[in-house]
Amino acid sequence: MTPPMTTTPIRPLVAGNWKMNGLAAALAEAAAVRDALPALGAGNSDVPPDVMICPPATLLAQMAYATRGSPILLGAQDCHWAASGAHTGDISAEMAKDAGASAVIVGHSERRADHGELDRVVRAKAEAAHRAGLIAIVCVGETKGERLAGLTLDVVARQLEASLPDAASDAETVVAYEPVWAIGTGLTPSNADVAAVHAAIRKALAARFAAAGLRMRILYGGSVKPDNAAELLSLPEVNGALVGGASLKAADFLAIIRATP
Ligand code: PGA
Repeated sequence: MTPPMTTTPIRPLVAGNWKMNGLAAALAEAAAVRDALPALGAGNSDVPPDVMICPPATLLAQMAYATRGSPILLGAQDCHWAASGAHTGDISAEMAKDAGASAVIVGHSERRADHGELDRVVRAKAEAAHRAGLIAIVCVGETKGERLAGLTLDVVARQLEASLPDAASDAETVVAYEPVWAIGTGLTPSNADVAAVHAAIRKALAARFAAAGLRMRILYGGSVKPDNAAELLSLPEVNGALVGGASLKAADFLAIIRATP
């Protein structure tokens, strides 16, 4: 039997992924978002979005200080699967939490490509996030070649199955669908293609996690900009966005937040 689609409203999440960008001076952008948020109110949404910034780890603690008292959530961009130990250059989920994060991105395609991270590593990192009390934002998405070969839904299903911990709950797990070929390129899939992948993800989550799978947020990421955000964010089963380049400037990021239906 096909599981029912989502019926209860899901609070959207707009998360900015700064990647390897931002020196201390860039804290001014986070401060500008902080200052503008109260005036946004609920905007045009019944359920106003959660807003998150994922700065480089070097800025986490300073950004936590700069945004204290504001509803801005902070996320790390990666974590090691261990809590501590001899892993030069890595940071643990516990360290990210200690620095002020309430979430961590795991399995971003740039980590998968640049650092050879496999699904089982991504899953171990998501489990580490949960162990530390962080939300795991688990990224999945096909390459251009996989899309052209008609493998998108297979790839995404395989990544979801192998990257998500069995005990994942909706409160501490977010899925981000990010087609690799759409990241940083200005290209986006058609609305119908985004909707089809998100519907397939929802179906897989509901089949595996029952009610929690119906409530888990599914973000779209890949060249989300002020001028396409309203359209992308209003598609069925799109519960927010993971924004790269356009999150670096407060004005663009705020425009995307405002575009949340
Ligand atoms: P982009 O990046 O918005 O610059 O395409 C998105 C991401 O990689 O999370």
